[in-house]
Amino acid sequence: MARKFFIGGNFKMNPATREQKRSLVKTLNEATIDSSVEVVIAPPAIYLLSLKDILRKEIQVAAQNSYFKPSGAFTGEISPAQLADAGIPYVILGHSERRTLFHETSELVAQKTRAALDAGLSVILCVGETLQEREAGQTAQVVQAQLAPVVAALAEADWSKIVIAYEPVWAIGTGKVATSAQAQEAHADIRVYLAKAVSSAVAENTRVIYGGSVTAANCKELGAQKDVDGFLVGGASLKPEFVDIINTKK
Ligand code: G3H
Repeated sequence: MARKFFIGGNFKMNPATREQKRSLVKTLNEATIDSSVEVVIAPPAIYLLSLKDILRKEIQVAAQNSYFKPSGAFTGEISPAQLADAGIPYVILGHSERRTLFHETSELVAQKTRAALDAGLSVILCVGETLQEREAGQTAQVVQAQLAPVVAALAEADWSKIVIAYEPVWAIGTGKVATSAQAQEAHADIRVYLAKAVSSAVAENTRVIYGGSVTAANCKELGAQKDVDGFLVGGASLKPEFVDIINTKK
């Protein structure tokens, strides 16, 4: 099965104003975009519904986080059931900013992933090592440790609703993009792990996208790697060059 190229735009806690949001939408709605690519935008929760309504139909929206309970006394949280009910198809889970700043463990990420799938959502599941871990030669080991609780929580069929985003922490928002060889090696290692821990079909069919300082200038080389199935783009998703990144394969 050919893996469909996937471009995610993670707006993080941006844009700061609704006017900026409108300008981003205008750029995306008026651009010529490659129809063979799956494009998913993850705005802050406050903009999810309005973006869903005003973005062109080919562009889907994703939440940047969700909790594992369906409802209840969890101030500040949003549930996968609420997202599903609102027609939001995707959620990003396990982003390094959530793991680091909000102390989310891989076990919690797995629990959230299970709950999101149970609610009918698809998940963009983020993993990645720190610079210190890379320099210690622990990249594959760290990524596997992040994936292991998710593997334990999922059945083989669940993997069709997972996109893995390999995002080395040292590349996020730093301008220090991974080389195409580094990205390819990490993605290939993820497939080797999935083949061993889940199945060869899941290893072959699961999309593994790269995130960390992706720009219009570096996307073509990264996107040409055989195990790189697209990108999760942060800073550049807020700029007109995001259209060029969507069109990486054109
Ligand atoms: O989710 C996106 C990543 O954190 C990448 O962010 O493109 O600004 O480095 P960045």
